[in-house]
Amino acid sequence: MNTTAHQFETSFDLDEPKAEAPPVLHEPTPIPRIAIQAFCDSPEVSSVLETAAADRRMAKAHMKIHMGGIPAATDFYQSAPTPNLILVESRQTADELLGSLDGLANVCDAGTKVIVLGRMNDVLLYRELISRGVAEYLVIPFALTDILGTISRLYHDPEAGPLGRSIPFIGARGGCGSSTVAHNVSYMIAQTYDSDVVLADMDLAFGTAGLDFNQDPPQGISEAVFSPDRIDDVFLDRLLTKCTDRLSLLAAPSTLDKTYDFDERTFEALIDTASQGVPSVVLDVPHAWTNWVRHTLCNADEIVITANPDLGNLRNAKNLIDFLKASRPNDHPPRLVLNQVGLPKRPEIKPAEFADALQIEPLAIIPFDAQLFGTASNNGQMIAEVDGKATYTALFGDIAQVLTGRGHVQRAKKSVLAPFLQKLRGQKA
Ligand SMILES: Nc1ncnc2c1ncn2[C@@H]1O[C@H](COP(=O)(O)OP(=O)(O)OP(=O)(O)O)[C@@H](O)[C@H]1O
Ligand SMILES: [Mg+2]
Repeated sequence: MNTTAHQFETSFDLDEPKAEAPPVLHEPTPIPRIAIQAFCDSPEVSSVLETAAADRRMAKAHMKIHMGGIPAATDFYQSAPTPNLILVESRQTADELLGSLDGLANVCDAGTKVIVLGRMNDVLLYRELISRGVAEYLVIPFALTDILGTISRLYHDPEAGPLGRSIPFIGARGGCGSSTVAHNVSYMIAQTYDSDVVLADMDLAFGTAGLDFNQDPPQGISEAVFSPDRIDDVFLDRLLTKCTDRLSLLAAPSTLDKTYDFDERTFEALIDTASQGVPSVVLDVPHAWTNWVRHTLCNADEIVITANPDLGNLRNAKNLIDFLKASRPNDHPPRLVLNQVGLPKRPEIKPAEFADALQIEPLAIIPFDAQLFGTASNNGQMIAEVDGKATYTALFGDIAQVLTGRGHVQRAKKSVLAPFLQKLRGQKA
């Protein structure tokens, strides 16, 4: 790995001020919209990191600096989700360092990278750290350009793949609440995990993301898809509308002055560019089955299908899941969200039976609540902003937790299949 070689080629004398060393960062390589938390153990390191946090190359990233080193970090993450990147300073001996990193690893969520800042200039220790999953080891003292260069290389390594995960949400039927779920989950990822999200409303004619977030921007996704040659991170940035500190929207025009018949790959450049810059790219896909919808789903990192508990939804969800499982045999099967469950007087398929028919446990079962969802929708607010009891907020939080790779949420046990569902499965088989 280049970074490995580079790290030890630039080994330096600890007594010599590092500012003398040639800068590692040769060209400005901005760091993407990641959340970084640092746990320092000395004023000299925290001071360099404070300068780094204010550097123009960190303008999109968010860095919080704490003191206390690895013990403080381990303690902190017992009860808090881990960010995209953690920097930990250590003054420990090699054995102590490896021991305390094991403790930190136990509380780190999947996908979090760790950079260790230490005082030992030792190749064997470096190799041991890398083999244990540490992303990089930087020897103290280091210059501002060293830390910026190290973080930048981590997120611009072509071998490492894109930073962000693309997560399309699609409804098994029109109107089943797929957009509502997509918007609320995006909001929860941004709020709970302090992690940046780009939400792209791909329903250009009828999309509701602008309404749901009370935004009416003059430009958005339409400019991106009708100027594919111009798409890069700078152009994309201009089209984004900030809904919260961490949540940016690529709004649909939601007008009918054009028709929207896209090619299979129309959205590809847009999704790729967005994925280079943010940890989560949520795609609000309309209920349709076109070349571009199929292509977007097939190439996604995660897929969320929202369904209501009736037979039409079940049939469509099953077709979607069967198709996507067959086309993506090496990926996680699509995720299922059951929404609008318990609509008064409506005969419904029980969630357990629905899940059993699809052989997929729902990530969340969201009750029908006309008052709450109607209020949120009419006010252009998210459920978390109007949910007094926080019950629904927790459900969207569960979905956010799984989609950001932070483990599974326990669900209720399955029940026995109703005969008509068995029949449906038999026909499909
Ligand atoms: N759990 C729920 N309880 C009550 N109302 C809900 C619930 N979930 C969504 N809704 C409402 O259902 C309506 C349709 O939701 P939404 O637009 O999210 O569906 P969709 O599947 O994206 O529809 P479309 O096919 O038009 O894209 C909205 O008015 C929304 O507020
Ligand atoms: Mg929708």
